[in-house]
Amino acid sequence: MGDKVIINEVGLRDGLQIHPHFIATTDKLALLDSLIGAGVTSFEATSFVSPKAVPQMADAGDLFPRLPQKDRIAYHALIPNEKGYERAVAAGARSVALVLAATETLNKRNINMSLGEAVEICKTVLKRARTEGIATRAYIAAACGCPYEGAVDLSVVYALTDEMFAAGAADVGIADTIGVANPAQVARLFKTLVGKYPAARLSAHFHDTRAMGLANSWAALEQGIRRFDSSIGGLGGCPFAPGASGNIATEDLVFMLNESGFETGVSIDGLRDAIRVAERITSKHLGGRIAAYFASQDKRRAAAAE
Ligand code: COA
Ligand code: ZN
Repeated sequence: MGDKVIINEVGLRDGLQIHPHFIATTDKLALLDSLIGAGVTSFEATSFVSPKAVPQMADAGDLFPRLPQKDRIAYHALIPNEKGYERAVAAGARSVALVLAATETLNKRNINMSLGEAVEICKTVLKRARTEGIATRAYIAAACGCPYEGAVDLSVVYALTDEMFAAGAADVGIADTIGVANPAQVARLFKTLVGKYPAARLSAHFHDTRAMGLANSWAALEQGIRRFDSSIGGLGGCPFAPGASGNIATEDLVFMLNESGFETGVSIDGLRDAIRVAERITSKHLGGRIAAYFASQDKRRAAAAE
């Protein structure tokens, strides 16, 4: 595996879905523009879910056709069911991400389906996407622990991954939805999966609830994973998974990767501009674990300039 890492920015979806006030579509597009300016090339731009379940995503059908079409920029749309698939494709999506949780309770709370129903719906949609030439990712949510059921047996995650690949998923995303994974567990999980499937078809999605987001990312990197979800400023959380804090911050992840010699194509200065846009549109003070370091560097520079 090479040293190129793809950062899939999920701030616009995972990051904003829990935000209590509706953010105008133009503001979402401004955030996207700033992230493109920073060099990010892959986005989970929105979700085609029930607007009753997640009002923030009610503009998915307006937003998607307005995404700037540029070379090498890929947009993915999260979908919970076949209706979401149809809405996404009608709005111009060429890549969809399905969501399936590893436990009965989270499926029920998140998408109002049993695990068995969710698996069947994923299979139906994956098959349909394949015949219609739409790229797919299947997320296994709560893969490292569930807010309702606690520990998740890794054998369940392996079995669901097998089912999703067998049904035609191009990629399977392992999601630590509430941020309870630890690096030893992540290493074990990906070691097993990479023993069976190409690392290029697997991706990792971590939340930073317990300050282990970067350590977990590194554990996945060591197993050959080169695709990671993250969210600008560490925005995020799932309204249906209590206890989840934000995704790993894109700037934390990119800083670690760039410092370690991986090729992300993403600039830290550009991300800092994007954080300012994210702060403006959410009226929140944002920033990952690296924020204090950035602030100290700014102070030093200002003092040196005086
Ligand atoms: N997009 C928009 N509307 C949808 C939809 C979709 N993908 N799927 C269903 N609906 C609508 C139906 O048309 C119906 O509308 P109506 O009340 O006007 O007739 C209503 O939602 C209920 O449909 P039903 O199939 O019974 O859905 P439900 O109430 O069981 O909810 C989901 C199921 C999956 C639609 C809902 O739980 C959901 O959107 N969950 C997503 C949660 C999420 O985004 N979590 C975070 C990301 S993982
Ligand atoms: Zn998430």
